[in-house]
Amino acid sequence: MPQAKLAQLSQALEQRAAQQLLRSPVTLERYDGRVLVVAGKSYLNFSGNDYLGLATAPQVLQAFADGAAQFGAGSSGSPLVTGQHAVHQQLSDNLADWLGVERVLLFSSGFTANQAMLLTLSSKSDTLLLDKLSHASLIDAALHSEAGFKRFAHNDLSALQQLLAQQPQPMVVTEGVFSMDGDSPDLAAMLALCHSYGAPLLLDDAHGLGVQGPEGKGTAAAQGIAQSELFCTMANFGKALGLGGAFVGGSKTVIDYIEQFGRHYVYSTALPPPLCAAVLTSIELCRADNWRRDKLQSNIALFRRLGADLPLLNSQSPIQGLVLGSSERALAVSQQLKQQGIWLSAIRPPTVPQGSARLRITLSAAHTTEDITLLTQQLRQVR
Ligand SMILES: Cc1ncc(COP(=O)(O)O)c(C=O)c1O
Repeated sequence: MPQAKLAQLSQALEQRAAQQLLRSPVTLERYDGRVLVVAGKSYLNFSGNDYLGLATAPQVLQAFADGAAQFGAGSSGSPLVTGQHAVHQQLSDNLADWLGVERVLLFSSGFTANQAMLLTLSSKSDTLLLDKLSHASLIDAALHSEAGFKRFAHNDLSALQQLLAQQPQPMVVTEGVFSMDGDSPDLAAMLALCHSYGAPLLLDDAHGLGVQGPEGKGTAAAQGIAQSELFCTMANFGKALGLGGAFVGGSKTVIDYIEQFGRHYVYSTALPPPLCAAVLTSIELCRADNWRRDKLQSNIALFRRLGADLPLLNSQSPIQGLVLGSSERALAVSQQLKQQGIWLSAIRPPTVPQGSARLRITLSAAHTTEDITLLTQQLRQVR
């Protein structure tokens, strides 16, 4: 056995445990969007990303089962070999039509899609400019890219402008709704800035798709911006659409390029066809069921009204952050809430910056007024 290597790994694990930063997966015995069951006990769920309650919508479950019967369980290959079935094409066309982009490519996850988007589209002569609070999948892609890499202060357009002015070939990357703070950039102003420096703007709208804008078209649409003004957009199916997988959408040239040169696309098994069938149904419900978005918005407004005295971050999205500071404190509060039947995971560094461990409260259309009232009462007691 390579003892030295094992000793190095054990030491890193012990160090993480000593810092109260060890994470372990929780196994759900049951899940219905609003409630989850862990070790035989039911909890109100305020930690998921199933914002519209679509993960357990009966029509979506039926589409999954029908899709398996019709197309088989797996795709059997890379999309460029034998992995692309009719349902993949249908999903790609449907997404392009919904969002108003020329083409989209499907990926097995948002993490992979972000890797493909940044690694494929950037080259040595470019510099990637990322918001400081960008998701790990974007940061890792930028770190692995041949391009230069710089970060600007969160949502700070003057910081971005300074970097734009210094770089000969900048490419700007931001998120529609930031995954830990729940806030959004001023995309119109950012786009204008990017245009004035000839810089492409790439958007990760994982938390905006389905939730923001008319028919849930996402953050750009919510801010009155046509998707075609962005260089490209990544969003995933694992949040508001309740499933899994992701896509990158944009102009024909951009997507044709990723199709040819994107190693994460070319050398990876295509999504399972029944998943695509289920995503198609989920999109249909998402577009048509405005009541889901209306209910979500009224839940957000209710939470912010009832929690007005709590130290909440400034967010109008379903992601509401309550910063507690140390990891120990965040863990202790999360534990206390669990005892009261509320599932609210503590989010600690390195997911969030040092000293800003927090509760990341996520709201859903599935929550009731009573759920949100109980949550705010309990938060007031334990914080
Ligand atoms: C902003 C953002 N981008 C990308 C991802 C990755 O997506 P996926 O979970 O589909 O890999 C996530 C999800 O964790 C996210 O929050």
